[in-house]
Amino acid sequence: MTVKDEIEQLKKEKNAIILAHYYVRPEVQEIADYIGDSFYLSKIAAKSDAETIVFCGVYFMGESAKILSPEKRVLLPDITADCAMAHMADPERIRQMRETYEDLAVVCYINSTAELKRYADVCVTSANALGIIRKLPNRNIYFIPDQNLAHFAADQIPEKNFIFNEGYCPVHQQIRTEQVRKAKADHPGALVLAHPECSAEVLELADDTGSTSGIIDDAVKSSHKEFIICTENGVRAALEKNCPGKQFYFTEPEPTCVDMKRITLDQIAHVLKTGENEVFLDDTLRQEAEKPLEKMLQLG
Ligand code: 13P
Ligand code: SF4
Repeated sequence: MTVKDEIEQLKKEKNAIILAHYYVRPEVQEIADYIGDSFYLSKIAAKSDAETIVFCGVYFMGESAKILSPEKRVLLPDITADCAMAHMADPERIRQMRETYEDLAVVCYINSTAELKRYADVCVTSANALGIIRKLPNRNIYFIPDQNLAHFAADQIPEKNFIFNEGYCPVHQQIRTEQVRKAKADHPGALVLAHPECSAEVLELADDTGSTSGIIDDAVKSSHKEFIICTENGVRAALEKNCPGKQFYFTEPEPTCVDMKRITLDQIAHVLKTGENEVFLDDTLRQEAEKPLEKMLQLG
């Protein structure tokens, strides 16, 4: 029996579904029941009636699924797959900001630990950040942890006062303007599509900016035939599948999230078989972190 057959059989036995982010390996995306960006996957995790969710993504994704679906068993194929940015904010600084600013909303990117989410008013993803922030009644927005997504949102929503934090995604931060210029010179007819975790300088060179799903939608709808993609190279699989006949180029060296790429088919089969790598959360922490996530689902 192949490992794919084994996963199929175990999924039925355990009443499990497999969720995969666009950044994981193509063979993992292939066996997933749902593939998507962080917003889409959080909605699936909240409403699925499967007993077990195998989350092929980094730790904060499994944690968010458990926060939203505490009665389900959430398994991570690789429990060491972590997002560096998820830790890049400080509860003490959040407390200081609340003391300094009246009328403050703490807006927390979903790429964050439950320990940070518990201090936030609302969570956002790259797909819904602009819409949700516009709906908030507060004038002052302390956006954690990603400074790049915060600057992108601040540019689009000038009526709000943004307070920035120093976090960033190491994978997107490594995409440099020189690399984008080189790709443009090599492919002069290509449209540049970028993720808002990229630096402001890179976003200035982009024709459009969006979440991973937003980038894929743009490429599907565009009449262009060539695209320079400024995000993690795992999206290539979905781009090529959804856009036959179109060409996709990445900046060099290709942006790769080593944590997302840790997840393998063997690990998926192993956790389904053994129940290892289950996500557990302290109940008080879970309830506190649930509030901003539920608010996101309600506003987003
Ligand atoms: P989206 O899934 O919202 O596009 O975010 C990308 C990302 O960095 C996930 O870790
Ligand atoms: Fe985190 Fe960046 Fe990897 Fe996404 S690509 S999981 S933000 S380190």
